[in-house]
Amino acid sequence: MIPNEFIDELLSKTDIVDVIDAFVPLKKGGQNYMACCPFHKEKSPSFSVSPHKQFYHCFGCGAHGSAIGFIMEYQGLSFTDAVRFLADRVGLTLPQAVRRQNPEAAQARKKAQQTLEETTAAAAVFYQQQLAQSAQAQHYLQRRGLNEEIIEQYQLGYAPDDWQALSHPFQPYPSQALIDSGLVLEKDGRHYDRFRGRIMFPIRNQRGQVLGFGARVLDKGEPKYLNSPETPLFDKGRNLYGLYEARATIKSAERVLVVEGYMDVAALAQFGVGYAVASLGTSVTADHIQLLMRQSDNVYFCFDGDAAGRKAARRTVENVLPQLKDDKKLFFLFLPSQHDPDSFIREHGKAVFEDALLNQSLALSAYFWQTLSENLDLNRQEDKAALIKSSATWLAQIQAPALSFLLRQQLSQMVGVDDHQLAGLLGQEVPQKAVRVKRYRLPETSFRQPKMHSLAEIQLRALLINPQWAVYTDLPEYLNLSGDYACLAAVAERIRASITPLSSGAVWELMRHTEFAPTIQRVLQNSAADLARYVQEDADENKQREQEEAACENFKQGMQKIHDQLKNEQIQALTQKHCQLGLNDDEKKLLLRLISASKNTINQSSELSK
Ligand code: UTP
Ligand code: MN
Repeated sequence: MIPNEFIDELLSKTDIVDVIDAFVPLKKGGQNYMACCPFHKEKSPSFSVSPHKQFYHCFGCGAHGSAIGFIMEYQGLSFTDAVRFLADRVGLTLPQAVRRQNPEAAQARKKAQQTLEETTAAAAVFYQQQLAQSAQAQHYLQRRGLNEEIIEQYQLGYAPDDWQALSHPFQPYPSQALIDSGLVLEKDGRHYDRFRGRIMFPIRNQRGQVLGFGARVLDKGEPKYLNSPETPLFDKGRNLYGLYEARATIKSAERVLVVEGYMDVAALAQFGVGYAVASLGTSVTADHIQLLMRQSDNVYFCFDGDAAGRKAARRTVENVLPQLKDDKKLFFLFLPSQHDPDSFIREHGKAVFEDALLNQSLALSAYFWQTLSENLDLNRQEDKAALIKSSATWLAQIQAPALSFLLRQQLSQMVGVDDHQLAGLLGQEVPQKAVRVKRYRLPETSFRQPKMHSLAEIQLRALLINPQWAVYTDLPEYLNLSGDYACLAAVAERIRASITPLSSGAVWELMRHTEFAPTIQRVLQNSAADLARYVQEDADENKQREQEEAACENFKQGMQKIHDQLKNEQIQALTQKHCQLGLNDDEKKLLLRLISASKNTINQSSELSK
């Protein structure tokens, strides 16, 4: 764990503009810097970097973060490695405990990765050129109905049916990198190309770099698809086919669709469904799901309607459950059994496909019960028991509090056992029903799109954008803070604790490893645009200042409102408990303290003295 003070110092010495400019040349535009986004394909710049907030944001695909986040995503590094990278830049030394034993080895690893990257990129270009020269391969793609534009967009290629085709672009053949990338194999001391006589689908990471390939035989042959092996560059469990190409569309469509095949992704894109991605010949992993949920609040999985599709869905749901979040919605669509997305959209078109997607997909909760109660007759006690038993395993994996609560409630209705008894049967505690002094606030459920933001969220967002306002937040602990309120208080406290003024980017980094990270991430997701908002250089300064002052005034009032509201709720809860169960000494003290600090709670206090 890297100490906060170190991150503090690092970010105060780091300018995000310099960091990003070294990789993506930036142009000044107003108060911010602009470029074409490195994380999705675009022709006009929508990637904005704010020196003031030390934050970047892409208005096209929604990518955003601090200098550390940029390096993590752009270089594909872990948090610690990204910090190390930035620390090296400014001549800081990482605290002893986190320094890796062997910096030379790390350096060598990085070098090898770079060579691999260059090799796969060059191979992709070679295969692309070969496609232009093979009438047979072009004919095949035509027959599959793929047009020029899609072939170009997905950089499809062709590996000639030749044992050593790669010896033309690569000399000497084979290089270590060709072997390490899995492009060349060895048998009995002889080397030969892995991919021969196949349509090549380059698999890219989020930056557009080619990591490896999926390769389909022309017409019949076994195996139908051959994939690059895992390499230091290519981690199948962490990458998705088509994500780089789809990112901007995912953002504008506000959904991402996961299908099984490379061909499906290409066909869907050609028919105007540009938000589809595919796993890489493996099942969907927990990392995939996290990656998907970072792209969009709405994740759709599409399966064939046959037994294999149902099996794949079940495997997916098992990987999904521990990753679920209350503000993300997941759906399962089953196609008619003779179809995959490619054949379906060709036969029925975009409108029918999207209609099915939006109106016939099963929400995860519906799929959950449908699958578990398949072949059960819930009028029979034995079947009810079977349902309780089978759902216990799945329910135990769900960490999203609201969804978990609702599913348990639903189970209790389905089997006609009340939730307390059910909790015993499931081997899990449920919240006590007795009057609780502690605020019990259900997080927003995932069943309605939370477009409206709560006051806490609005305030949190304002504070993240304007860390200097932390001085106006006063949320004492006795208010029993939870959820977004606790987060708001913690962020404010962290900012006030810092010796140097913190930028928005720095605040996020300092909170990244706290329990509040998911909340902050959610709020940032909705407000990253404001952090990098394009501000005209020649905007009227007075007017701008006036606006800022008004916004600050708003923030102060918002804090006052929250403060009063929490206090009143607390008073009410205590008063209620006083009437029903009585209060202990501490509670009485607290109540008096709350009331004396309060102006508009005369009703409660007079009630109490009765
Ligand atoms: P499918 O067999 O459904 O193929 O495999 P497809 O995508 O519909 O392709 P076409 O339409 O026949 O050309 C789905 C995915 O499973 C993986 C690939 O990722 C493929 O896209 N797969 C399939 C393999 O990795 N190897 C195989 O031999 C077959
Ligand atoms: Mn197919």
